Amino acid sequence: MTNDDSTAPTTGDALANLSREERHFDPPEELAAHANVKADAYHEAASDRLGFWARQAERISWAEPFTDVLDWSKAPFAKWFVGGRLNAAYNCVDRHVEAGRGDKVAYHWVGEPGDTRTLTYSDLKDEVCKTANALSELGVKTGDVVAIYMPMIPETVVAMLACARLGAPHTVVFGGFSADALSGRIQDCDARFVITADGGYRRGAASALKPAVDEALRSCPDVRSVLVVRRTGQDDIAWTDNRDVWWHEIVDRQSADHTPEAFDAEHPLYVMYTSGSTGKPKGILHTTGGYLVGTAYTHWAIFDLKPETDIYWCAADIGWVTGHSYIVYGPLANGTTSLMYEGTPDTPHKGRWWEIAQDYKATILYTAPTAIRTFMKWGAQIPSEWDLSSLRLLGSVGEPINPEAYIWYRKEIGGDRCPVADTWWQTETGMIMISPLPGVTSGKPGSAMKAIPGVEAQVVDDAGEPVKPGSGGYLVLTDPWPAMLRTLWGDDERYRETYWSRFPGRYFAGDGAKLDEDGDIWLLGRVDDVMNVSGHRLSTTEIESALVSHRKVAEAAVVGAADPTSGQAVAAFVILRESAGDGGQDVVNELRDHVAKEIGAIAKPKSIMVVPELPKTRSGKIMRRLLRDVAENREFGDATTLADSSVMDLIKANLSQGKGDED
Ligand code: WT7
Repeated sequence: MTNDDSTAPTTGDALANLSREERHFDPPEELAAHANVKADAYHEAASDRLGFWARQAERISWAEPFTDVLDWSKAPFAKWFVGGRLNAAYNCVDRHVEAGRGDKVAYHWVGEPGDTRTLTYSDLKDEVCKTANALSELGVKTGDVVAIYMPMIPETVVAMLACARLGAPHTVVFGGFSADALSGRIQDCDARFVITADGGYRRGAASALKPAVDEALRSCPDVRSVLVVRRTGQDDIAWTDNRDVWWHEIVDRQSADHTPEAFDAEHPLYVMYTSGSTGKPKGILHTTGGYLVGTAYTHWAIFDLKPETDIYWCAADIGWVTGHSYIVYGPLANGTTSLMYEGTPDTPHKGRWWEIAQDYKATILYTAPTAIRTFMKWGAQIPSEWDLSSLRLLGSVGEPINPEAYIWYRKEIGGDRCPVADTWWQTETGMIMISPLPGVTSGKPGSAMKAIPGVEAQVVDDAGEPVKPGSGGYLVLTDPWPAMLRTLWGDDERYRETYWSRFPGRYFAGDGAKLDEDGDIWLLGRVDDVMNVSGHRLSTTEIESALVSHRKVAEAAVVGAADPTSGQAVAAFVILRESAGDGGQDVVNELRDHVAKEIGAIAKPKSIMVVPELPKTRSGKIMRRLLRDVAENREFGDATTLADSSVMDLIKANLSQGKGDED
């Protein structure tokens, strides 16, 4: 670990006051009897891991078969399905049409204002082909990176698949990120093309995207074309001739024929940026063959997917990895019918999700603990007004799900009949790694249970020795897996250093974990300087640099403080420059807006405390543990290693004068 002051994983026992029956939920009999995956899968995979993955690779159509399952000779740089050739878009779309399933619905899409669209696999194929032809006309070639900055509309999926079809890696930037965050990502991966929309609908209003692209591109002179979907019809949209092109003007007139080219299994599919423990976001590179195999298998196994009958809904945003793996690539590779919703869950009313689930008879729902806790706050009365009896399976992802939220989700949404799969994974892993199997594993509220078949995980101590049941340590993955990241875009050394150096030969996930007496895994949160806010990673350093880039700030420290809804909330401590005066609410608001502008609203500190000093060790490291104590309103812990032990008293005195802020 880089931080000598990180907190060791702790193990609150929130289950203590539950009865024994409440601690275990056996798989429903009916589901278990017909489950896609039975208990023997663990043994089958463990006895011949590569053979197991070779069999899973049969889920995918290969234009050229692979000769080796894995080449790990240049570890930690993996090659999966060596020599195989395939086209990801063909696998997601064309082959289902060729197999006579063209009329099957790929997406039931619901816009926030209430408009709806239905896309069959044939519709999707036509749209993807036309868009691939349009991108070619704009000059996109195999290997060019295309940035996508879009709302949750079908064209976002189409854009991704059109890029994949051409072998042009996409980098989707979440629509909530700011212009600065967008330009940083475009520059880092040298994208020459951008696909966006005028805007999307959020909270009952049109929310513009194009202005952020215009602003971002002022510092990205190499971008040649911007393809713009008209979604909201906002009429004050700025236009740069020779660069901006309306989607409907160029895509609609294209031919719906396009011959997909087969690419090497290791051809880059996409780059997804995520926060690391330094300020600079990391470009996680995923490639084609292994990623498709990994997402297709896990989607089928963990959600027990029955493509003929399931109506599957992953309620994440496509701008995050969950959307890539479990709205787009995994579900489409499996020929799934999915639901997709554009807007926020409280628009126009707080039952919107349940109304959609009822109307479309959703059978599987995959969402995040932060959403579940929000629904809990709104009350069980709201979902109870809708018929959710079609649901048969629930999933959770993004952060540890607290037992109370798990039990509420299971009972109030799942009617006590649906198993809950708590799925642990990361942008880097590309696919779910640790999760119960719904037809096999008993669920324990709060535990992600075991590594899935074909995946090997351990919990180890500081020296890298596996811990015994009942103890805590660090989560590592001991063997490569097909959907693993291949490197960090343009930075092999940082890849090796970040993931493979802490425990040589093993992948260090950055999460603390505990093994319970049965050997099941409980995730305990990040052990580095990374926070998890509403299921998304934010780096403390990144927010600190945003704060100190403001002219009024001399120094800043950021910690993740426990928050009942978002898991963690961003708590900032700042020392102001003398010229800034003594703080007050105006400065605090100004700084919060400044962070939103630099990174995006998701990074906006929930609280900013103006302090006279920051607690530091003799070597100058900020003792975040103490700041976390302050932010979480606790007596602060051992402060004896502070260079100046009076600092904490100063901070306390300052806070009691009411200079902290929380809204
Ligand atoms: C980090 C990865 C994978 C898509 C969403 C987030 C935390 C994720 C769980 C879970 C406990 C979880 C970890 C992980 N995390 N799922 N089920 N239980 N923690 O992707 O932004 O790459 O974040 O999210 O801390 O390292 P991400």
